[in-house]
Amino acid sequence: MTRKLFVTTALPYANAPFHVGHMMEYIQADIWVRYQRMAGHEVHFVCADDAHGAPIMIAAEKAGKTPQQFVAEIAAGRKQYLDGFHIGFDNWHSTDGPENHAFAQDIYRALRKQGLIAIRSIEQFYDPVKGMFLPDRYIKGECPKCGAKDQYGDSCEVCGAVYSPTELKNPYSTLTGATPVMKSSEHHFFQLSSQRCLEFLQDWTQTPGRLQPEVLNKIREWFATDDEGRVGLADWDISRDAPYFGIRIPDTEDKYFYVWLDAPVGYLASLKNYCDRTGRSYETLMADPSLEQIHFIGKDITYFHTLFWPAMLHFSGRRTPDKVFVHGFITVNGGEKMSKSRGTGISPLKYLELGMNAEWLRYYIAAKLNAKVEDIDFNPDDFVARVNSDRSASTSTSPAVRPASSPSASAGI
Ligand code: MSP
Ligand code: ZN
Repeated sequence: MTRKLFVTTALPYANAPFHVGHMMEYIQADIWVRYQRMAGHEVHFVCADDAHGAPIMIAAEKAGKTPQQFVAEIAAGRKQYLDGFHIGFDNWHSTDGPENHAFAQDIYRALRKQGLIAIRSIEQFYDPVKGMFLPDRYIKGECPKCGAKDQYGDSCEVCGAVYSPTELKNPYSTLTGATPVMKSSEHHFFQLSSQRCLEFLQDWTQTPGRLQPEVLNKIREWFATDDEGRVGLADWDISRDAPYFGIRIPDTEDKYFYVWLDAPVGYLASLKNYCDRTGRSYETLMADPSLEQIHFIGKDITYFHTLFWPAMLHFSGRRTPDKVFVHGFITVNGGEKMSKSRGTGISPLKYLELGMNAEWLRYYIAAKLNAKVEDIDFNPDDFVARVNSDRSASTSTSPAVRPASSPSASAGI
């Protein structure tokens, strides 16, 4: 039987070029997609830029651009990476596209109709100079435990203490240096704490074949009973006050969807855009019971994809994902996180500019990945050894990786 597959990878934030972690995800999904196509199955493989949110709005402002200009410039740089590594997406779109505005608002209206949206006032830090509520990462101050200066609002890098931003001494806004004030405003919440959501999610997550065993274990922890004997999830704050680069919440003047509400909706928006472009019917495709919806993601965004996203879809009357496939992270030199400042990141573009063969990296990543949520390490010497030895074990006549062109940290890639 021919399978019909709607496949996505996570939508990358449109505030930076791709790094090797992104390429790893695309290579993994691309290989799986090619395999399905070779087996004769029908595959629609899409992605998009994740354009919204406070960090992108602030980065654009710093660069003296509108957020739209800023994300358009990032988008223009995507093709060379995707083509360079032979990644065969059928469509690349943006969460700021008109399809996504319409879908996100439709989903919100449906959730509201279901009685799953609550509106409550909350108090948050506000920058009176900038006229803007401050996300936690834009507040710094002195650690309440050890007094170290310039610590973030969640934890101290000096003594390791964990606290909330309101506990900081002499807090300041990293945007203007102003002392933030507490201010209240109305927020919209998706009521994930409701019995309906809890029951649906327990059932959805435990359906066999949908999630990897490690992912299921993690979910069991998230559902665990807390100290006060409550089971389940907290309501999810899905709104942000203006100024915000995002999608307006229907029937409000100054409220926008939190970026993580509209980001996964971008999967559907990209598919819709692709269908419209290629003369297919999105509605017919999505209504086909044989269609399988499959998301490839990294482990850091599991919560959004296995709880928030299926609940949003189900309670707005849509189909839910058939499989969410989670991979680990790529690290460098024996488990270190990639870091631009330490020069340990591997630039995928630099790799290509040096004339290295994309197939070597594709092969290396394919050889190291498996079905588990495990990190894999990129070590330049291991890369050269692995590619060369496996190549000479085959009948290939393609040139070997020569140490002179190895992707070592000293070459700065
Ligand atoms: N914009 C969100 C995803 C929204 S999906 C509706 C986001 N973007 S991201 O650019 O930070 O990450 C995109 C993908 O790359 C995620 O799946 C993430 O896990 C993956 N990776 C980011 N760094 C990675 C590594 N070092 N290694 C492997 N994958 C990594 O999250
Ligand atoms: Zn401290």
